[in-house]
Amino acid sequence: MQFEFMDRHAALAMTGKKDGQKCSATLQPMNDLAGKHIVLGLTGGIACYKAAELCRALVKEGATVQVVMTEAAQQFITLVTMQALSNRPVYSSQWDAREPNNMAHINLSREADAILIAPASADFMAKLLHGRADDLLSLLCLARPPQTVPLLLAPAMNREMWAHPATQRNVDQLRADGATVLDVGSGEQACGETGDGRMLEAKELLDDLIAFFQPKPLFGQHVLVTAGPTYEAIDPVRGITNLSSGKMGFAIARAAREAGAQVTLVAGPVHLPTPRGVSRVDVTSARDMLEATLTRVPAASVFIATAAVADWRPANAAGQKIKKDGSGAAPMLSFVENPDILATLAQSPRARAGDLFCVGFAAESHDLLRHAQAKRARKGVPLLVGNIGPATFGQDDNALLLIDAAGSKELALESKLALARKLMAEVAMRISAKDKA
Ligand code: C5P
Repeated sequence: MQFEFMDRHAALAMTGKKDGQKCSATLQPMNDLAGKHIVLGLTGGIACYKAAELCRALVKEGATVQVVMTEAAQQFITLVTMQALSNRPVYSSQWDAREPNNMAHINLSREADAILIAPASADFMAKLLHGRADDLLSLLCLARPPQTVPLLLAPAMNREMWAHPATQRNVDQLRADGATVLDVGSGEQACGETGDGRMLEAKELLDDLIAFFQPKPLFGQHVLVTAGPTYEAIDPVRGITNLSSGKMGFAIARAAREAGAQVTLVAGPVHLPTPRGVSRVDVTSARDMLEATLTRVPAASVFIATAAVADWRPANAAGQKIKKDGSGAAPMLSFVENPDILATLAQSPRARAGDLFCVGFAAESHDLLRHAQAKRARKGVPLLVGNIGPATFGQDDNALLLIDAAGSKELALESKLALARKLMAEVAMRISAKDKA
């Protein structure tokens, strides 16, 4: 089936926006937690200050947040602050008479899509482990129906407390009992010591919670992604690169991780934060990118080439800065072709045997369907994703045209992250169809 691909300009025309004006996908927050009701539990710890920011971030992402605080948490932050940020009265007592049936622990735990305890103190985790329930928060954790209301814990404590065998034993047992114990951060602690045990930052916890709610169709897969431009040196201070921002590739790495895969991201020179849980390798030139990719591909089951690899590099990069000699003559540069990373991997024995699913990208300026179909055949990949390069470089949104042996399919203009999630679902579908065949 043929789909007429809509370029950025056509898509913007439909939305009534002029180019240069951000489209709705970038103006609106992602609302990744829209419709979700989160019980945010705070226990005693200095990291309570981060819970205030987390609460705000959850609300901004579309969630409704019911804060529940232990007595110890109230030593660190007030009910007033958390009520103002969540826009709801905070619960702190199991004897709260506001509930008509006086069973706050039952009501609050039944309404939630998830219970997130942040910060989760060492003492609170020890308490949960034993099923103790002597305050509202531990009571509602025990009362939650585990099949429908997941429990996530964001530990926060001094490094010695975190490393203590008792804490580690408790973490293992809580996981075995069905809780999701999130990572801890590492670094300088409020006590002045340095090590593991800090609570993750609000943004990291937000990303972990969003990822938690995403479906996991790539569980068990290892996805290797190339992203960004490459930089080809002319001399030690000059080089050739391109306008790729790396945003699409980074969004794909994040979406693959959210979808349950182990992810390695080989990134050209870009200043983007590494998505949570993704292992990143920074490279500079096309040849560095090829080497980093070849080293890591044996562990991968999916390879997605989003990088805008320079087609050519200067044949002989000068060892020293090329100087003007006063004659007005420009230096003569000659170029050689760079290795084609995607074509190399797509022709490898593992890819040919169906053990490495390769996905290529095509950034075109016009006639996308025809060019992308030709590129799919030339690169020898099962799935080729076309986009309009000049319309998407540096933007937060994009539109994709997926081309495989069966035909083509359009993914209309929206944020790169939303598209990346849809693309991961498409990849997962093709892998599972291949596995069943
Ligand atoms: O040939 P072209 O650069 O248009 O192909 C684009 C696709 O091939 C992208 O997936 C890109 O990451 C990949 N590629 C590559 N190595 C190159 C050139 C392109 O992996 N040297």
